[in-house]
Amino acid sequence: MADILNYWTITGIVIGLLVLLPSIMGFFGGNKFDVKGKTVLITGASEGMGRSVAKQLSQKGANIIIVSRNVGRLEEALAEIKASAANPSTQRFQYISADLSEPDGNARVIAEAIAWNKGQAPDVVWCIAGASVPGLFIETSPETMRQQMAVNFFSCNDMAHAILNEWLAPSSIGKGNTRHLIFTSSVAGLYTIAGYAPYSPSKAAIKSLSDVLAQEVQLYGDDVKIHTVFPGAIDSPGMERENKTKPEITLILEEADKHFTPDETAASSIAGLERGDYLVTVSFLGSLMRASAWGSSFKNNYFVDIAMTWLSSIVGVFVAMDLNSKVRSYGKKHGHPSTYRKKVAA
Ligand SMILES: *[C@@H]1O[C@H](CO)[C@@H](O)[C@H](O)[C@H]1NC(C)=O
Repeated sequence: MADILNYWTITGIVIGLLVLLPSIMGFFGGNKFDVKGKTVLITGASEGMGRSVAKQLSQKGANIIIVSRNVGRLEEALAEIKASAANPSTQRFQYISADLSEPDGNARVIAEAIAWNKGQAPDVVWCIAGASVPGLFIETSPETMRQQMAVNFFSCNDMAHAILNEWLAPSSIGKGNTRHLIFTSSVAGLYTIAGYAPYSPSKAAIKSLSDVLAQEVQLYGDDVKIHTVFPGAIDSPGMERENKTKPEITLILEEADKHFTPDETAASSIAGLERGDYLVTVSFLGSLMRASAWGSSFKNNYFVDIAMTWLSSIVGVFVAMDLNSKVRSYGKKHGHPSTYRKKVAA
């Protein structure tokens, strides 16, 4: 009896693996993020990663609405985004100027987007607006801390509230129309280093909101997908501004994080969404950081993700030792931080 049980158990496991392995490895994917003919609203799209995302989704046939504050930059970006269109005669393009850190900014943007889109809510909303003002904690003003939370976290929170109220209304669900809400966090929201006290908590809060929502939207069925993208360093106008206040020790600690262009970051992010990933990273280092911070997050691929979690728990020991020793020796060499040459935002 025991032998027969073993025989069937082993056969079952082997057949199960043979059937499951290709899908575990992601072979039968198909495109899980097809934007052709869909309307996509992107915040923070007048420059940097947001602008590249808008151009690339335009190339894939989406109607595009870009949101940011500066009208001049929006007009210039929209011309470039239009010029990238796959079908210029059928795709539509619009910009909306708004300050998304203001409490009512996001609700107004969604109302205007619906009016422009013939009464239909956009199919995809991708929150990319954000900024980083690094600095040592005790030298950063409470206003800067609150502003970082408003620009990075509350812009996502308020946008999620505005669009999910549309998508999850009883009259909108159950029509087989998949919608995607995408947040943009940062690897600094998964793994923090000295100098990012004003920034990292606002990006970590995005992941937390994302995890709650990814679970909660299942109450409404399968229509709405939540995702969060975790870019690393991007050589962009935002990085140029960030550089102005970044402490030297922060630059030393993040040396290993490879810089990507806005186009490269946009392309890897879109590729992750097309694979159907919930948490999207754009580099191997980013994937290791993600693997150290799953919490209640959905995994993308159990096979790979569990292996990465083992790896990150081992590598993490050495990385933490290295980073902490760099901080201590910098402090010893340069004395009390109050004596460092001050960097001020222009
Ligand atoms: C920001 O500073 C780093 C380090 O000095 C440099 O490598 C990078 O090119 C700068 N990026 C921008 C966009 O200014």
